[in-house]
Amino acid sequence: MSANKGTPLIARPVRESISEYSELALPNDANPLGNLLGGRVMHLVDMAGAMAAMRHCRRPVVTASIDKMTFLRPIHIGQLVVLRSSVNRVFHTSMEVGVKVTVEDLQTGDIFHTSSAYVTFVALDERGHPTAIAAVIPETADQKRRFEEAGNRRQYRLELREKASNRRFAGGTKRRRGGSQAL
Ligand SMILES: CC(C)(COP(=O)(O)OP(=O)(O)OC[C@H]1O[C@@H](n2cnc3c(N)ncnc32)[C@H](O)[C@@H]1OP(=O)(O)O)[C@@H](O)C(=O)NCCC(=O)NCCS
Repeated sequence: MSANKGTPLIARPVRESISEYSELALPNDANPLGNLLGGRVMHLVDMAGAMAAMRHCRRPVVTASIDKMTFLRPIHIGQLVVLRSSVNRVFHTSMEVGVKVTVEDLQTGDIFHTSSAYVTFVALDERGHPTAIAAVIPETADQKRRFEEAGNRRQYRLELREKASNRRFAGGTKRRRGGSQAL
């Protein structure tokens, strides 16, 4: 892990990472029922999350994990999918980004919340190694709540990662560093 030696990391407010990404749900992304594929929504979540992550750290990032995602209602073809993202909390080389997915029916103007997700991104240095990220400053009450909750979720993720790693060792699989593909 590179520690950004010599480069001071200046904390930045959450608001500077806020991003928005929107896309019309098109027929080539439909499932057999004529609704948007869940996998397409996950792809959009990854993209919207990466935008906020890169806006915060101004570096290439890779997706380390995506927490559980629920789909609260189907997205119909022709509706506008709107994704809003921002950095909830920075740890060391990783950060949690929250992504909220809403759908706008362009004919009625109705807006629905369809999914929320928490995505962990890791910043990479010039050699493709994880590198330290500037802290993020939550300013509003909602940002402060998300910051606190992100700490609890990280604890849970680390426990899961530890358990998965123990299972791999028990099964005889060797641990190796991942070959990173930056977004
Ligand atoms: C993510 C990755 C860079 C981590 O590399 P690593 O050698 O395990 O690095 P480290 O153990 O030093 O961990 C680096 C950071 O990643 C975090 N991390 C690693 N695996 C994680 C996981 N499964 N979930 C959440 N965070 C994770 C660590 O907690 C650490 O964060 P911190 O510095 O803020 O404490 C590496 O596993 C990788 O390249 N994975 C493939 C990524 C990829 O291809 N994504 C899809 C395409 S973008």
